[in-house]
Order: sequence, then C-alpha cells, then structure tokens
Amino acid sequence: MSKKPVILGIESSCDETAVALIRENNKGEPEILSNIVSSQVDIHKEFGGVVPELAARAHIEKIDKAIAASLKKPFIAVNHLEGHALSPKLNSKINYPYLLLLISGGHSQFLCVEGLGKYKRLGTTIDDAAGEAFDKTAKLLGIEFPGGPQIEVLAKKGDPTKFDLPKPIINKGGCNLSFAGLKTAILRIAKNIKDKKDKCDLAASFQKTMEEILYKKSKIAFQEFNNINKNKNKTFVVAGGVAANKKIREILIKLCNEENFEAIFPPINLCGDNAAMIAFAGLEKFKQNQFNDLDFPAKPRWQLDENAVFLKGAGVKI
Ligand code: KG4
Ligand code: ZN
Repeated sequence: MSKKPVILGIESSCDETAVALIRENNKGEPEILSNIVSSQVDIHKEFGGVVPELAARAHIEKIDKAIAASLKKPFIAVNHLEGHALSPKLNSKINYPYLLLLISGGHSQFLCVEGLGKYKRLGTTIDDAAGEAFDKTAKLLGIEFPGGPQIEVLAKKGDPTKFDLPKPIINKGGCNLSFAGLKTAILRIAKNIKDKKDKCDLAASFQKTMEEILYKKSKIAFQEFNNINKNKNKTFVVAGGVAANKKIREILIKLCNEENFEAIFPPINLCGDNAAMIAFAGLEKFKQNQFNDLDFPAKPRWQLDENAVFLKGAGVKI
C-alpha cells in the first residue's frame, strides 16, 4: 500500500461547500481521488448575488469544521486564492516563476508566482472583479445569478460590434484593471433594450470588450513579467471562474502565440471554486512541512502578495 499521504481539502470561502481527496501517485503527479461540490446557488439566487450570512450558515450545515481536531490529523490553512493560483498544476507541469492572471468573482490580479507562497502582485482591479462584471451585466439583462456562464452562451448569438462599450484605464495604469465604468455603460444601454436580439447583441458586445481588455492588459503584464524575470520561463497561467470562458481562453492563447509565451489553464471543471485545488495547495504545503495551529483565524482579506497595498474598494491608486 502507498505510504503517500491523502489530503482532504475543504473549500468554504464563498458560495460553494466542497470537499476533495488528493494523493500523489508514484510518478509524483497529483491524483484526485474524489471531488464533490455542494452548490448554494439556489440559496442565493433570489437575492441576485451571494449573501455572506446565508453562505456561512449553509457551510456549517454541510461541514463539521472540527474534523482535524477530532481525527487528530495535522491541519493546514489554505488561502482560497492560492488554491486558484496553483490549480493549473493539477493537470500541467509548471515551473516557477510563472505569470498568473487570476480572474474570479471576487478578484482580478496579475501576479508573478515565484514559488509556493511567494507572490508578487503586478496589477489588480481598482474596482470590480472580472467575474463580478459578468454577473452584474447578466443581472441587468435579467439573467439569474450566477450569470457569467450564461453571458457566454448569449454572446454567441449576438453581434459584438453593435454596442461600443468603454474599456476603463485601457491606456494607463500599467496592468491594473477597472470594470466599474463598463457596468455603468451597460446599465444605461440595458434600460433601452427591446427584444432578445438586443439582449444577445449587448451580451456579445460585453464579452468582446472583456476579451479586448484582458488581451491588452495581459500584453502589458507580459512585458512587466519579462522585465523581472529576464525573459526566462515564459509561462502564462490563467485561473479562477472566468478562466472557464472559452472565448477569453482563445484570445489569451492567441496573445501567447504572438508573444512566445506558453498558455496554461486548469481544466474547465476546476476553474470555478472547488476543493481539489485546496487539497492540492495543502499537499504542496504538506511537502514543505507547513502546518498550522487549529485556532488559525479565518482571514476574509488574505492577500497573496502580503506586501501589496490594500485599499478598500480600489485595489491600488493609478
Ligand atoms: O472562482 P470562482 O468560482 O469564485 C470566486 O472565487 O469568485 O469564480 C466565479 C465567477 C463568477 O463571477 C462567475 O460568473 C464567473 O466566475 N464565471 C464565468 C464563467 N464561468 C464562471 N464568467 C465568464 N464566463 C464563464 N464561462
Ligand atoms: Zn474562487
């Protein structure tokens, strides 16, 4: 029997309660033994977004959080964002350092991942996250929460050139991002939407604008990453819920081909919140003997780059 440890990952940071088991195989590759997600979508749907108090209650109903203590097993605290950051390593061999674009419902950041626990933030959103922009646009179009994946479907049927939408801070602020102005523009247009065709056209125009913003800002991030790393190891990793968007994947793969970077994404089913990525981050920490006390506090604003400035609402000044 294998002596390799089995890691139980528990994910409960937002609106999914998930558990997974991971063990390294004899080739040193992570193997997912089990990966289960219990979604809270039905609980939050009627509010059009995640209600933190309801989320916390639903997690406690599903998971007894004193598991490690009662089983006398070592405990490892994992930053949810670190789970996303390392998730592409579940199916690809990636060497450090790599450039990471983390695009989820709560975060949008470019980071230089120098090693386990070593993150240098190159850019961040100064207002909304990319996934939040997808969800808010969906809500304005009358699509149920979480709307991001539905926008992608509607966009396929629409004309992406119909509405000219703003691309905030596209020519300034380095690789920092901003999506709030885009939402305001959508709000204005959505009020005058008459039929299904308009709706599809707006979804398509929004989708295309997001692609263009991420293409341009990633290109800037490539330059910054190259400057730091002297052009060594040009790997671009995209993770988080929005990385499941196929058109965004395509445009970023195109950029990587143009700029001689290797593009790596997690499998579609591991882009959104899941416990396999948490178990994997736990496994990496286990191998470095990074354990925590059971009274480790929950950190709602646990930054990956702890030296990066944190300003409420806006990530940085530009
Ligand atoms: O990583 P994630 O599951 O949760 C957070 O950590 O926030 O990301 C969820 C976000 C939501 O905003 C959701 O609408 C968005 O990812 N998302 C997508 C797609 N699938 C999920 N956005 C655009 N296109 C998709 N296919
Ligand atoms: Zn997440």
